[in-house]
Amino acid sequence: MTAFIEAIDLHKTYRVGKMDVPALRGVSFSVEKGEFVSVVGPSGSGKSTLFYLLGGLTRADSGKVILDGEDIAALSDAERTRMRKRKIGFVFQRFNLLPTLDARSNIAIAQEISGNGSGDPAFFQRITELLGISQRLNHLPSELSGGEQQRVALARALINKPAVVLADEPTGNLDTENSNIVLKMLRQSNQELKQTVLMITHNPEAARYGDRIIHMRDGHLVSAEEDPQWAARTIG
Ligand SMILES: Nc1ncnc2c1ncn2[C@@H]1O[C@H](COP(=O)(O)OP(=O)(O)OP(=O)(O)O)[C@@H](O)[C@H]1O
Ligand SMILES: [Mg+2]
Repeated sequence: MTAFIEAIDLHKTYRVGKMDVPALRGVSFSVEKGEFVSVVGPSGSGKSTLFYLLGGLTRADSGKVILDGEDIAALSDAERTRMRKRKIGFVFQRFNLLPTLDARSNIAIAQEISGNGSGDPAFFQRITELLGISQRLNHLPSELSGGEQQRVALARALINKPAVVLADEPTGNLDTENSNIVLKMLRQSNQELKQTVLMITHNPEAARYGDRIIHMRDGHLVSAEEDPQWAARTIG
């Protein structure tokens, strides 16, 4: 089977004033179409940086991301933006809902910018019902709980049935009940639509929803045994 997402020796260093902050120091892996992969690792290990590179939101210093056969760095900015809107659903670590739009519009805007027009109303209804937000669609983000905001953000990521879902701590600040709703939805969408899902999480319980777990540490991929934080958590 061919890889749907391929990361090849990704390096990324941020420059803060005169200081270099290495975030990724040579990360390579591949994900097959339809796979659900969890990415775990300590704070600062480079997970979100990897997420930005895979989604074409930031450029690597060196290395490549091949998504569905395309080297995303070789695309023009316009082509990359189009690819992102067509193929990728993002859930960001911070909710990133637009504060002046109600929940309905926050979801619908993803359909509009993708060029899908009004999209698929039946799917909109189904997703919002499954996520338990159908009674909250007229609320502004400031009128929603954190869990509801995160479920709106997930609805927005899934509404265009993207081939790839990139989710950065989608259950980060959620209680168990909300986490389960979000994780079940991601899994269901992954299975029904053969979506390729990459989910970053701190939570071992959440990580187990994936088919496979990738461990990061200090900008590298490591084995589960080399991830003491993980070992301690899973034992405890
Ligand atoms: N915009 C930025 N400018 C400078 N340094 C950054 C920037 N973003 C991240 N970093 C640094 O790069 C490293 C990796 O950060 P990253 O956000 O990828 O980690 P993370 O694994 O997602 O952490 P967390 O679990 O806390 O979200 C950290 O040392 C961080 O301080
Ligand atoms: Mg992060």
